[in-house]
Amino acid sequence: MSKVVLAYSGGLDTSVALHWLSYTKGFEVVALIANLGQGKNLEAVGERAIQIGAVAGIVADLRKTFVEEYVIPTLRANAMYESGYYLSAALGRATICVELVNIARQQRCHYVAHGCTAKGNDQVRFEASIAALAPDLEIIAPLREWPFKSRDEEIDYAESHNIPIKVSKAAPYSIDYNLWGRSMECGVLEDPWQEPPEDIYVMSVSPEKAPDEPVTIEIGFEAGNPVALDGERLDGLSLITRLNEIAGSHGIGRSDMIENRLIGFKSREVYEAPAATVLHLAHRALEELTLSAGVLHFKEPLSRQYSELVYNGRWFGILRPALDAFFSKIQEFVTGTVRLKLYKGAASVIGRKSPYSLYDRKLASYGPKDSFPHSAAPGFLSIWSLPLKTEAGRKKAAESAEKETPESKP
Ligand code: ARG
Repeated sequence: MSKVVLAYSGGLDTSVALHWLSYTKGFEVVALIANLGQGKNLEAVGERAIQIGAVAGIVADLRKTFVEEYVIPTLRANAMYESGYYLSAALGRATICVELVNIARQQRCHYVAHGCTAKGNDQVRFEASIAALAPDLEIIAPLREWPFKSRDEEIDYAESHNIPIKVSKAAPYSIDYNLWGRSMECGVLEDPWQEPPEDIYVMSVSPEKAPDEPVTIEIGFEAGNPVALDGERLDGLSLITRLNEIAGSHGIGRSDMIENRLIGFKSREVYEAPAATVLHLAHRALEELTLSAGVLHFKEPLSRQYSELVYNGRWFGILRPALDAFFSKIQEFVTGTVRLKLYKGAASVIGRKSPYSLYDRKLASYGPKDSFPHSAAPGFLSIWSLPLKTEAGRKKAAESAEKETPESKP
């Protein structure tokens, strides 16, 4: 019997896929349940996989790897897709793919399956990553093959085959959730004019319900890595976990955007990413203090490239580690502390300091300690303006030449 390893989340699509693979297609299904900090009882998800028909339900705790090898490098690159997506699902897919390949090898599976639709970005990430990591494995995408035409039909199938699912036709959301963020699609969210219903959120309270008192926090960085929260040294995973709670309780990190999918259409995406929002803001604030204008301006388009590369499933190509090398080099001096105020849905930077700051108060000050070389300004300006003066001279000469020969005009 052919053996397949399925990336299993316990949601509607992958539950129906698991059943369909084993009963309609006759595969032996090994279910991989990846723990990326989605806060579910994953042992129960593993049991559900067996109940639906899997021969094994393997729960893998990938949180540390996810944070250290995927999330933090992306933070150091300040990579955010379009107006407000911190790439949680895309980074999660890359992490899961490495484990899928490991399990395929251990369990001698020749096939890898995922529960992505033909319309999404996630299929691209799964398949491009598997192609890079293990081109010999064959990929099965049940949702692109089976006859169901809507989530409602999947729900009917699940109900008639006693597949335990939490989704209902009234709340048919497609949700992707990990410690770096949560994304929500489908149902009423498909209408971009509809405000997202409050009950879709789980990582954040609504700004209206957030405490009336702000909270001030301090985040410490070393060479671009977040290493401390309020003076306490923490590993990346603990820091992000704690920050999700604090920032989420102040309503930070929600976004509602129309996003351009790789697959060619726009989709309405609702996200909540409390820790990611605060960490990106803090990291950028520290870079403003410690990177020169030239480096800061040079890196901006590279951050965008990085975000597109992650979004488009090219994590395992050569460009990503090459960009990481660039970002590592420029992070050398991104060490220091950023102070932020969190209040009713907004995170604001209110202070920053670094032993490697390029901000020189004596140069910037208009007070008595001002050390700027004022007398050098006129000389600098005469040279700086020289090319503009030269151009102005040419313009004037051209205008007077035109006046002298008016008949040449049409
Ligand atoms: N639009 C986001 C992305 O392409 C989120 C996708 C999340 N997937 C899901 N099944 N809800 O990365």
